[in-house]
Amino acid sequence: MASLVRMVGLAASVAVSSALTIAEVNGNKFLSPYNGQTVANVTGVVTAKGPDGFWIRSTTPDRDARTSESLYVYGAKFATANNITVGDAISVGGNVSEYRSSKDYVYLTELASPTLEEKLSFGNKVKALVIGKDTTGPPTQQFSSLDGGDVFAVPNNVSLVSVANPVLQPKKYGMDFWESLSGELVTVRKPTAINKPNNFGDTWVIGDWKVTGRNGRDGLTQNGDDANPETIIIGSPLDGTANPSTTKLGDSLDEITGIVTQAFGFYRILPTTALKVKKSQKPALPAATKLTSDGKCSGLTFGSYNVENLSPNSTHLPAIAAHLVDSLRSPDLVFLQEVQDDNGPTDDAVVSANLTLSTLAAAIAAIGGPQYAFADVDPVDNQDGGAPGGNIRTAYLYKPALIRLHKPNAGGPLDATAVLPGSSLTFNPGRIDPANAAWTASRKPLVAQWEVLGRKGGSEGTFFTVNVHFGSKGGSSSLQGDARPPVNGGVNNRQAQAELTASFVKSLLARDAHAHIITAGDFNEFISVAPLRAYVSLSGLHDLDAVAGIGPAERYTYLFDMQAQQLDHVFVSDALKRKKAAYEHVHVNTWVDRAAQVSDHDPSVAKLDVCS
Ligand SMILES: *[C@@H]1O[C@H](CO)[C@@H](O)[C@H](O)[C@H]1NC(C)=O
Ligand SMILES: *[C@@H]1O[C@H](CO)[C@@H](O)[C@H](O)[C@H]1NC(C)=O
Ligand SMILES: *[C@@H]1O[C@H](CO)[C@@H](O)[C@H](O)[C@H]1NC(C)=O
Ligand SMILES: *[C@@H]1O[C@H](CO)[C@@H](O)[C@H](O)[C@H]1NC(C)=O
Ligand SMILES: *[C@@H]1O[C@H](CO)[C@@H](O)[C@H](O)[C@H]1NC(C)=O
Ligand SMILES: *[C@@H]1O[C@H](CO)[C@@H](O)[C@H](O)[C@H]1NC(C)=O
Repeated sequence: MASLVRMVGLAASVAVSSALTIAEVNGNKFLSPYNGQTVANVTGVVTAKGPDGFWIRSTTPDRDARTSESLYVYGAKFATANNITVGDAISVGGNVSEYRSSKDYVYLTELASPTLEEKLSFGNKVKALVIGKDTTGPPTQQFSSLDGGDVFAVPNNVSLVSVANPVLQPKKYGMDFWESLSGELVTVRKPTAINKPNNFGDTWVIGDWKVTGRNGRDGLTQNGDDANPETIIIGSPLDGTANPSTTKLGDSLDEITGIVTQAFGFYRILPTTALKVKKSQKPALPAATKLTSDGKCSGLTFGSYNVENLSPNSTHLPAIAAHLVDSLRSPDLVFLQEVQDDNGPTDDAVVSANLTLSTLAAAIAAIGGPQYAFADVDPVDNQDGGAPGGNIRTAYLYKPALIRLHKPNAGGPLDATAVLPGSSLTFNPGRIDPANAAWTASRKPLVAQWEVLGRKGGSEGTFFTVNVHFGSKGGSSSLQGDARPPVNGGVNNRQAQAELTASFVKSLLARDAHAHIITAGDFNEFISVAPLRAYVSLSGLHDLDAVAGIGPAERYTYLFDMQAQQLDHVFVSDALKRKKAAYEHVHVNTWVDRAAQVSDHDPSVAKLDVCS
């Protein structure tokens, strides 16, 4: 038959090929071998209807797991005009076409401009395939054979699914698995939400199949090159209802039945009706940290929190204050990221954040927290990225009765701080090499040297901090997108930023190999990806998650698509790498629903001995 088809195809591009099975139309790759051709007598039973078309399942399936047995028939009025309903067995002709709404997505195979050739029968029983039972389970490790074994490998985008069009390996690669079920009516048993819904109600889930990286809240944590291909997003219901907007990480849901398709950069299931939450995790909020300050250098606490565009009149400012006091138990020193200037998003010459920081400090004191002092360096207007006019920067809050800046000498926005003999800083606080092109439209790390005050007011020794907020991942492509490996937006900038920050740390350690150095903040990158691998190896610092023995699945501060992931990190020098070094990620934002979320990041808190 294949050769007959090829002959017909050669004869004329508009030639109508003879009857094809749905499996033949789909083929065993991502793109249909009949793309752009007109086909006739494709036969199947209607399994579901949507607003713009319907899906048919083959009455003559093959035994090849790579070829989907179902197909989308696209044509908004076709079903109504022809009285086509679920359970009808029909023969249709049409134009095989590959559709995507953006060049960055993978194509969906569909039958467009359909014509009804024959209605064969009606009232046929339609049964969904149970994923992991009637199919294999989705692969748990890799997305695509084109990723070279690492979905985060650099360089990115060295090939395209739409060009390479590899033969599907559904047992090995997640994209291949879902592609092999394109158009199928499937059931997800015992679904669990692994993120909050997006603005359209689309919700990432796992079913009762085997998964890896499951964390204590039942989300899946990204770990190394395992970025969770065993997940699927549930899109808009086919019956016109809407998915709930309040679903939370770890919610268990009613069983889901729907159609596998590809849209907006992801394989997705369009459920026959809206998702329903059965049960949420308890407790609703994480306990406060167990890490409290000893009030002396042998046990100081350090918080780090990306406070998401905080300005003096931010409605979320009181809730940030409450997190710092109640959930982080008022750390001795707090690394803040995304502090905006005194008039927030107003785009004018204002760059000072004194009002933002003093408003936050006052809100903290007002609920019984400590009287924090603060330190930062104003950026040059609109040169550090983020929302225009916001002038986001990193800043410190600290307890002045316990710690103070050592020989304070604040740098200006363009002053590069350096290490003097005797290990003090030329500018304290000061920024790392701020004129370097690596920081274009990004935050320059804020370095400070601190001394701990003893009971009698004398110094108990000094330590250094570097507060970072590396360039964002904006411009990234979907993990299930056309580009392989996917584009990791800004990865080259972060690589350069990591190298500069590491070389500053090295200059400190060159003066004093025993220096106590804490670098913390929003690195906008995963520990296993090139920029942070370089950072650790060039700086000689240690990942505090590893030092403190936090289980790999519990290392998350952010939810994105199908992952709980860690963008926020703490790294410490040899002198701080001690048995009793402790660290916690406090999931005040990842665990709650979208409306209750105060920032898009979770804060973290560490307890360290900075004197011995
Ligand atoms: C399609 O099926 C109809 C009815 O079975 C038949 O008459 C027609 O010849 C078929 N067309 C092709 C191109 O196979
Ligand atoms: C539409 O199709 C159904 C079978 O699916 C049949 O029972 C019904 O009579 C048809 N209606 C019309 C108007 O043809
Ligand atoms: C079939 O679709 C392709 C695009 O996928 C289009 O170029 C072609 O004109 C269509 N043919 C017919 C007969 O509609
Ligand atoms: C906060 O202040 C800025 C200007 O200072 C203004 O643009 C913004 O609308 C204000 N926001 C609220 C919530 O009042
Ligand atoms: C902000 O506060 C610092 C001291 O904390 C002070 O030196 C500086 O002048 C203040 N800036 C503005 C614009 O008030
Ligand atoms: C990936 O590279 C191709 C060129 O090979 C380019 O057309 C495409 O825009 C790139 N994708 C992304 C997401 O940058």
